[in-house]
Amino acid sequence: MASIKLVGIAGSLRKASTNRGLLRAAQVGLPDGAALEIADLADVPFYSQDIAEKPAAVARVLAQIGAADALVLASTEYNYSLAPALKNILDWASREPDNRLLAGKPVAILGAGGGMGTSRAQYHLRQVCVFLDLRPLNKPEVFANAFAGGFNAAGDLIDEKIAGHVRELMQALIAAVAARR
Ligand SMILES: Cc1cc2nc3c(=O)[nH]c(=O)nc-3n(C[C@H](O)[C@H](O)[C@H](O)COP(=O)(O)O)c2cc1C
Repeated sequence: MASIKLVGIAGSLRKASTNRGLLRAAQVGLPDGAALEIADLADVPFYSQDIAEKPAAVARVLAQIGAADALVLASTEYNYSLAPALKNILDWASREPDNRLLAGKPVAILGAGGGMGTSRAQYHLRQVCVFLDLRPLNKPEVFANAFAGGFNAAGDLIDEKIAGHVRELMQALIAAVAARR
């Protein structure tokens, strides 16, 4: 069993999502004892206080977040901000008592999008992290262009330079988890 558990969440629900491709790239080359599970948001409904019982898809992702030592958030950019699917699962998670799923957890942020590499969305996401008491790493930043040949048609990352940045980010995240123990 992994001694460092990470959960990866992408804001895009698209089958060939480049942001999920970044998360798959983040799984490559993790040190022994660390594992990254990728959450599936496809069936997660929008949060409503009227939903009395958590839908199964929500419960599954919240269990993954709760079990994780740290989060890896692939922040798709929609209209200069983070995609609603990502914000929505953070909203669900934030409703647990005492913010116990999120409080104090290290977060690695990365993203693939247009020419600015989701930087605007990532800075909005950092703002959300403030209230949730999450601890996003300041560096390295990973701003990937999804339209410049760095990903194949399935959304897999094929650019070695970006893959190197992703590896550095994961190393920094694992160091942050170790420092917290
Ligand atoms: C509704 C919508 C809004 C978008 N707005 C932006 C944007 O503001 N900035 C940007 O860089 N890309 C924007 N894009 C392009 C996405 O970043 C691009 O489709 C990206 O590949 C999505 O990530 P995915 O491959 O993980 O699905 C937008 C796409 C959609 C569908």
